[in-house]
Amino acid sequence: MSKENIQYIAKKIVENGKGILAADESTNTIKKRFNSINVKSNEETRCFYRDTLFSTPDISKYISGVILFEETFFQKNSSNESLKEKLENINCYPGIKVDQGLEEFNKDSIETYTKGIETLDKRLKPFAENGAKFTKWRSVINIGENIPSSHCIEENSSLLAEYALISQNNKLVPIVEPEVIMNGEHNIDKCYEVTKETLNQVFNSLKEKNVDLKGMLLKPNMIVPGDKSGEKLNIKEIAEKTLACLTKTVPEEVPGIVFLSGGLSSINATMILNEINKLNSTSWNLSFSYGRALQEDALKMWAGKSENKNVAQDIFLHRAKMNSLACHGKWDTSLENE
Ligand code: 13P
Repeated sequence: MSKENIQYIAKKIVENGKGILAADESTNTIKKRFNSINVKSNEETRCFYRDTLFSTPDISKYISGVILFEETFFQKNSSNESLKEKLENINCYPGIKVDQGLEEFNKDSIETYTKGIETLDKRLKPFAENGAKFTKWRSVINIGENIPSSHCIEENSSLLAEYALISQNNKLVPIVEPEVIMNGEHNIDKCYEVTKETLNQVFNSLKEKNVDLKGMLLKPNMIVPGDKSGEKLNIKEIAEKTLACLTKTVPEEVPGIVFLSGGLSSINATMILNEINKLNSTSWNLSFSYGRALQEDALKMWAGKSENKNVAQDIFLHRAKMNSLACHGKWDTSLENE
């Protein structure tokens, strides 16, 4: 695949109001999600649940790509069907999470960097050879007393850039995810300031390493107040500040921006995306790459029971459709009762 192909795929992922399903929860994270519905997490339950999502009729009208965890990428369901091939068959691009989670810089540090860069090139080969079209790498920046430090922002930006380059060298579109975490007492302006500094640093590093900006997607947080700030979410203010922050930091060549939901409720994540797109006058397609905000309602409805499969799929399809409408700025609260 040539460079043009990477650019083509990056563009395709965010076209026509489509977005990404992030179904790449690590084994630990999916265990937490399953605990919340009293379901035991094992290979079989994880496979059943993810297979349920991916086999949702009509889902590819709204979802262009799915980020998979390693286990899922090579997993087959009880009818011996490959989950990854199921996605390919409905024209959904399979992607793969390639970071190896977070680690503190040293034993006294509360800040983290993302692991896995040394082995990345080698680890990408089997995915590239087996049809993966894109990858994801998540960095985490926390806001708190005296943090984030510039060291944390610089190190994580540099790792993101190195990851993006290795991914592109393997003909895979990198999804660059610097997540400024919404947990904390900080206000919305602090989130704006830290996200702006982070994105500036990320793009400096990407440019330094000559990453092809047309062949990548950015996955940022929205600009929101900390969850313990006591501030009420003001949807219009969030949308305006998010757009202002992106306009100041993200080069025009980047074809699309796919937001993470970061702990926002399903409805808030849709509502904010819709407001952002109503105000958007940039050249970027502004879409979603949600994990929790796409899955939460369906997960609860499924509750580990195979007889709930169809209704869980209906709920998942509905959320995907609502977010797709939000990509066009055409969502409305009345549509939630459809
Ligand atoms: P959330 O939408 O639940 O934040 O997940 C997105 C994601 O992929 C985090 O890496």
